[in-house]
Amino acid sequence: MKVTVVGAGAVGATCADNIARAALCEELVLLDIKEGLAEGKAMDMMQTAALLNFETKIIGSTNDYAKTKGSDVVVITSGIPRKPGMTREELIGINAGIVKGVANNILQHSPDAVIVIISNPMDTMTYLALKSTGLPKNRIIGMGGTLDSSRFRYFLSQALQVSPNDLQGFVIGGHGDTTMIPLTRLATYQGTPVSAYATAETLSKVAADTMVGGATLTKLLGTSAWYAPGASGADLVKAIVRDEKRLMPCSVYLEGEYGQKDICIGVPVTVGRNGWEKIIDFNLNDDERALFSKSADAVRNMNNVLSTL
Ligand code: LAC
Repeated sequence: MKVTVVGAGAVGATCADNIARAALCEELVLLDIKEGLAEGKAMDMMQTAALLNFETKIIGSTNDYAKTKGSDVVVITSGIPRKPGMTREELIGINAGIVKGVANNILQHSPDAVIVIISNPMDTMTYLALKSTGLPKNRIIGMGGTLDSSRFRYFLSQALQVSPNDLQGFVIGGHGDTTMIPLTRLATYQGTPVSAYATAETLSKVAADTMVGGATLTKLLGTSAWYAPGASGADLVKAIVRDEKRLMPCSVYLEGEYGQKDICIGVPVTVGRNGWEKIIDFNLNDDERALFSKSADAVRNMNNVLSTL
């Protein structure tokens, strides 16, 4: 297996680090436009191989896409991250051109790759990558829901004072501060509804904290978060390269599912060697359906900006 991570910034490098430690592939290429950055981070990571006991060969590249040739999975993290006070949506002007260029460069050397999009605004960048490459829809996956769901489980674990590993919970909808939908009704503590362990008020605070989870970190860090986004990207890569068929919330192209079409937005999908394989219908109630449709409207408005750039 060969995996490429484009963008050797904090998210891309953390993603690559997680991929190498988990031995998800034999060869891992880290590519960046900034001279020497990817080579430096790749060498730094390779110098942990003897300490961490991994065999993955990590290769850094300054914009030489020939090195990415034959990748099975490509993670795109390129573009600028948000600064405190910014929304993910404000990044569209700069990131659209970058993501489009990267996706097309990648395909020239890895025509069969599954592409994972992390760049923001993620749902719109996923849609753009799909439209501009013309790839089959199952090979373009937006990573946002996996991250948001991990944050949801973190905030739930804090509220319930239990292990996040005993909690299940999905965040669907757009990957935006106001568009994501933590599915509190369906969240469970080892199969039992979380509503048995916390008041409705507590659970709505958990949902609210989850929605601004990224913004809270941006305020603290002065830039976008990277540990959880990087680990979430690596988790998706794992599901793909190991053909796990795991159920993960990802931004994928809808053609009528969840009442939406011609949009990429977060829904539960199974993920395996072919990319995303099946959309699972969670049978949303009326309130959740209304939130989903509002979220889709916001994502669609952002997609419409693409034609003005
Ligand atoms: C976040 C960015 C990566 O949510 O979208 O941290």
